[in-house]
Amino acid sequence: MQTRTPLIAGNWKMQKTIGEALALVNALRSNLSNVKAEIVVAPTYTALSKVAECLQGSNIGVAAQDLFWEDFGAYTGAISAPLIKDAGAKYVIIGHSERRQFFGETDVTVNKKIKAALKHQLIPILCVGETLAEREGNLVQQIIEEQVSRGLYQLTQVELKDLVIAYEPVWAIGTGKTATPAQAEETHVLIRNFIAAQFSQEFADRLRILYGGSVKVANCKELLALKNIDGALIGGASLNAEEFSAIAKSVA
Ligand code: 13P
Repeated sequence: MQTRTPLIAGNWKMQKTIGEALALVNALRSNLSNVKAEIVVAPTYTALSKVAECLQGSNIGVAAQDLFWEDFGAYTGAISAPLIKDAGAKYVIIGHSERRQFFGETDVTVNKKIKAALKHQLIPILCVGETLAEREGNLVQQIIEEQVSRGLYQLTQVELKDLVIAYEPVWAIGTGKTATPAQAEETHVLIRNFIAAQFSQEFADRLRILYGGSVKVANCKELLALKNIDGALIGGASLNAEEFSAIAKSVA
């Protein structure tokens, strides 16, 4: 049977000064030295290198929250794969719904960014998820399959070997509304089956699929206990050391 190491990732979004970020990771470092899950934090770009430095030699990895697909050049305001790698990132979140909503991210740009990440040996965390209107219109499967297939267009399972997918229903992000365990599991199964059909069963069995959207101490256990939920991508609750640590420790 395939065993997937659970991954608990904190997406800090546009939060924490460098000082606050360091205080948080120092607390996490001591709280989480022997948890069973793999732990990742995604600070802002400005705190990335300091956080990575502070976490050296620990079991906590660092992710960037986005990247631009070109390596270097005249792209004012952009940050590329070589730059985030240089700052100490191992992972990069790509296609978060807030990027899609506020920064014009599309499945086409998501695909370019995944290719850029892979070119520089960064592990992409591809975010997908439907809006409330799409869920109510019975479009979950169609939307998710489109986001996955377009996001991974022209990529092979060899290139994507370490890929992580995060299912984050847009209506559950920052709203306090979590998908029910049944809704989450159903969509995770749908994603895994689609990956099996597009690539192979073996690759689908290895793929880690995280759930994100109002994950907190109160609901993490029942979500993380599900067969196809391999971890969580956590926003609000990752900003507090005690809460994030309690979630990470709840992984059995
Ligand atoms: P919340 O946990 O604050 O709902 O955010 C989820 C998220 O967007 C993680 O990427």
